Amino acid sequence: MILENTQILKVSKNLTEKDDIEKLSFAADIIRKGGTVCFPTETVYGLGANALDSKACEQIFEAKGRPQDNPLIIHLDNADKAENYCHTKDSAGFVKLKHLMPGPLTVILPKKDCIPMTVTANLPNVALRVPENKVAHKFLELCDVPVAAPSANISGKPSPTKAQHVIDDLFSKVDVIIDGGDCDVGLESTIVTLATEPPTLLRPGAVTFEALCDTLGKVDVAQSVLSEMRPDEKAAAPGMKYKHYAPCTPVYLLAGDDDKVKEYILLLSDSDKCALILFSEDIKALSGNINPEAKIIMDMGAKDDIPSHAHAIFSHLRDTDKIPELDKVFVRITGDKSGLNLAVFNRLLKAAAYKIIEL
Ligand code: TXA
Ligand code: MG
Repeated sequence: MILENTQILKVSKNLTEKDDIEKLSFAADIIRKGGTVCFPTETVYGLGANALDSKACEQIFEAKGRPQDNPLIIHLDNADKAENYCHTKDSAGFVKLKHLMPGPLTVILPKKDCIPMTVTANLPNVALRVPENKVAHKFLELCDVPVAAPSANISGKPSPTKAQHVIDDLFSKVDVIIDGGDCDVGLESTIVTLATEPPTLLRPGAVTFEALCDTLGKVDVAQSVLSEMRPDEKAAAPGMKYKHYAPCTPVYLLAGDDDKVKEYILLLSDSDKCALILFSEDIKALSGNINPEAKIIMDMGAKDDIPSHAHAIFSHLRDTDKIPELDKVFVRITGDKSGLNLAVFNRLLKAAAYKIIEL
């Protein structure tokens, strides 16, 4: 840290308050001086440092307790600047993907020498993202250097979608936390690598697999997106081999039709204290039949409102950590793997360590 204490700077989401830019300039200055700043994006909050400064980036690993072999994404305010940090010229894929940037998309390309090996964890490729969120965009523009940033959570915990999550995990470990309100998407960006032929989807997100195929043609899906990695397997994205998105209490996914799920929940014993993260329709159907002392209910939105599920799940999973003496967490899933559902399912699979109760 370069400041004595963490400073929390609240800005308006659309940068309409008169001192917003002044606050972002202060934070950008901290980045250029080698400090650390947490900032909102449309996906989740990031924990940033100057990507050209190895020492600054080391603080990211330290603050998060992140394994050194897990590389960082670099953030830019404009995709045209990518050529300064990675080899985009020979990449037909990058040219095609540019129309999805800014947005919730991360692209992996061969890196240039100016990006230190600390950032890429000794890999020859670098991950690059241009966020769309207004606060992120202005902050990155003011930084005027690429900003390396993983999600702003303690390693292994669900990613932060509200400033309070960042404060809970990283207060006193970073110089600045920019509070720019809740993140719109609520799940981390889609990651696609252009270092394979065809390109490979490494992490699903709000830029869907279908949208990538429309843009790039054939796209492979990394095996780790939907299944557990074998211990001897090499991860395409090193981050995928670590335990992820998990609250303290064991999570179980509930798959099956509405009536069977309702029946299963009604048969759960009250001697187990459970959190139930359910669709609004489930909650309505159960109303009056649940003991609120033993069953804590959380609403992830209407069954067909997938953006609402994406927006709510990390926040609800984090909230379960605040419930004392909880035995189990159950989360309802749709079973669908298309569009944004793939990203929701992928995160929930990891949070549940692949435990699905098929009803
Ligand atoms: O939405 C997001 O992507 C957020 C915001 C802050 O931008 N960031 C984020 O970063 O989720 P992080 O570090 O939590 O996840 C990045 C993932 C990790 O699994 C990492 O292993 C992978 O990207 N990754 C980064 N650089 C890579 C590279 N050069 N090759 C393969 N995988 C890479
Ligand atoms: Mg992360």
